[in-house]
Amino acid sequence: MEKLDAGPVGALRIAPSILAADFGDLANAVRAIDAQTDWVHVDVMDGHFVPNISIGPPVVQSLRPYSKRFFDCHLMISDPARYLEAFKKAGADGCTVHVEVGNTASLIADARALGLRVGLAANPDTPFGDVEAFLGDIDLLLLMTVFPGFGGQSFMGDVMDKVILARKEIDAGHLALDLEVDGGIDVVTAPIVTRAGANVLVAGSAIFRQPAPLDAARAIRVAAFAGQS
Ligand code: DX5
Ligand code: ZN
Repeated sequence: MEKLDAGPVGALRIAPSILAADFGDLANAVRAIDAQTDWVHVDVMDGHFVPNISIGPPVVQSLRPYSKRFFDCHLMISDPARYLEAFKKAGADGCTVHVEVGNTASLIADARALGLRVGLAANPDTPFGDVEAFLGDIDLLLLMTVFPGFGGQSFMGDVMDKVILARKEIDAGHLALDLEVDGGIDVVTAPIVTRAGANVLVAGSAIFRQPAPLDAARAIRVAAFAGQS
């Protein structure tokens, strides 16, 4: 199967988080929503950077043949340097590391050298100033709208000030950068984040925990578009 690339920078994209899907039936879960999916968001947790354990490279590898979509791997792990290559080999297209783990410049360089699309994530209480210096070196800025670790948490509207600020800097600097939000995104919060300037929307529970995930993904896309107009 020929893979799709990330698509045009800045375009609206829906990235379902498989964290909320049935891990025993992931292939069918991603197939079922494919028509309303731009990226597949893979939440990787190590039980150390966050108080939860999820999945790693073997699951990416197993899932890879079932989707041609861009695999957007969100590494909520303390030592990403040790695993970037394994994710790349498993079929990851992009890897996002957290600025809170430190060593950011070197992690960005490592990911770039592996041919990955490079993302940098910031927790809700991490100031914009901590990521600002790296904006010219990354492909994606992920501003968390919940504290990472678990799906199904409530959206933190306070983060919108940071999203607005990031969008302003991206546009003012003509930076080729996607602005992603993750946590508590649903039909109600999608227009709030797109109005603030986010263009990649991660949604887990609001898609996979719904009776009709494909319809749920479509509804989020429609709501997100509405926020842009
Ligand atoms: C949180 C993860 C999110 C999470 C989103 O640690 O990074 O991607 O799965 O889940 P919902 O959409 O349920 O908030
Ligand atoms: Zn995530």
